[in-house]
Amino acid sequence: MERTLSIIKPDGVKKNLIGDIIRKFEQNDLRIVALKMLKISKKDAMNFYIVHKDKPFYDSLTSFLSEGPIVVIVIEGEKAISKVREIMGATNPKDAAPGTIRADFGSDIEHNIVHGSDSKESASFEIPFFFSYIEIQGAY
Ligand code: RTP
Ligand code: MG
Repeated sequence: MERTLSIIKPDGVKKNLIGDIIRKFEQNDLRIVALKMLKISKKDAMNFYIVHKDKPFYDSLTSFLSEGPIVVIVIEGEKAISKVREIMGATNPKDAAPGTIRADFGSDIEHNIVHGSDSKESASFEIPFFFSYIEIQGAY
């Protein structure tokens, strides 16, 4: 069993895709164990995406993530980390496999609707970034 963090980014919330995205995860044998909607500051977005601090897109990515409400979700299941990444599709919607969230709904490489932790290490940084232990169902 693994846990991973997914975020429905501001473009996904704006496009009314919350239900569609959660349904995709649930239909793939994944379980939602924590969920909330919030709007984060630019500073919080910069801390969340700190791994990208030296990338040319860091400033624009963190402005985008803080421009409107997001939905943060902890997902549990067998191989949850890679499964969620598969359901999301490649970073650039143009390269994403048909039927993936990013292929179906993403606009461009930045506005790509969803985030998913890319490893166990990222998940163990990203989940407690948004959720305390008492907010995650089944946490013990
Ligand atoms: P994410 O972290 O959001 O799940 O996406 P990812 O692993 O597929 O891609 P990553 O390389 O971690 O990039 C994080 C987010 O930054 C934006 N991005 N913009 N303009 C660009 O070249 C560029 N490259 C990446 C995207 O929003 C990407 O999801
Ligand atoms: Mg990433």
